[in-house]
Amino acid sequence: MEETLLVVDRLTTSFHLQNGWFPAIEDLSFNLKSNETLALVGESGCGKSVTAYSIMNLLPKPGSRIDRGRVLFHGRDLVSMPAAEMRSLRGSKLAMIFQEPMTSLNPALTIGQQIAEVLYYHNGTSRKEASRGALELLEQVKIPAAASRMNDYPHHLSGGMRQRVMIAMALAGRPEIMLADEPTTALDVTIQAQVLALLDDLKQELNMSMIFITHDMGVVARVADRVAVM
Ligand SMILES: Nc1ncnc2c1ncn2[C@@H]1O[C@H](COP(=O)(O)OP(=O)(O)OP(=O)(O)O)[C@@H](O)[C@H]1O
Ligand SMILES: [Mg+2]
Repeated sequence: MEETLLVVDRLTTSFHLQNGWFPAIEDLSFNLKSNETLALVGESGCGKSVTAYSIMNLLPKPGSRIDRGRVLFHGRDLVSMPAAEMRSLRGSKLAMIFQEPMTSLNPALTIGQQIAEVLYYHNGTSRKEASRGALELLEQVKIPAAASRMNDYPHHLSGGMRQRVMIAMALAGRPEIMLADEPTTALDVTIQAQVLALLDDLKQELNMSMIFITHDMGVVARVADRVAVM
């Protein structure tokens, strides 16, 4: 059965510039149903990333604010949700992957360690279980020879493999919604196709819904069940 999982309702987010507050997105509305991939498309600067950060409550503070609107997840408003509750939702039920995986990976930790950290802190597993879980996740995102990759540092990996690690970390909390902000833009075309195929497989396997932000209409055609134009 089709269920509406997320409702974005007249969302308006502003940034503080020299002469006051200016909206980056204004009265934006769309919704996401269970098990669908919604592509959010629009030209550069139209507010796609701002929308993602607004939903995830990751806007840079101070200097930005949500002026009005609601983001309903299972009927609860994320905009007014207490910060601690939102923090625990982020990384569990709501996960996000970004365009440039290198900036969100810790260069000083091995791949295995960083995925295990997420499992350890979010799911309260033992260190040992977390490490085993990390390996399973690396296998799930189809990293070849996953066991030996566990001890690699991010700089040892290609861009496509790093993005797979980011996806593995996002999956650690078993998200219902994956928000992907141009996750393949920085990759070569063939690698891009592989990562898109992986995301599509995972979405089916794990019953996720996805908001896929992109300006690439070829990508839209490949992944989207529905398109929202900004
Ligand atoms: N930290 C910030 N401070 C001030 N203005 C910002 C900030 N971040 C974004 N903006 C403004 O918000 C608008 C939307 O930016 P956003 O990054 O969401 O665009 P986008 O649609 O994701 O573009 P792209 O396709 O290039 O990623 C832009 O006009 C930008 O100037
Ligand atoms: Mg953007």
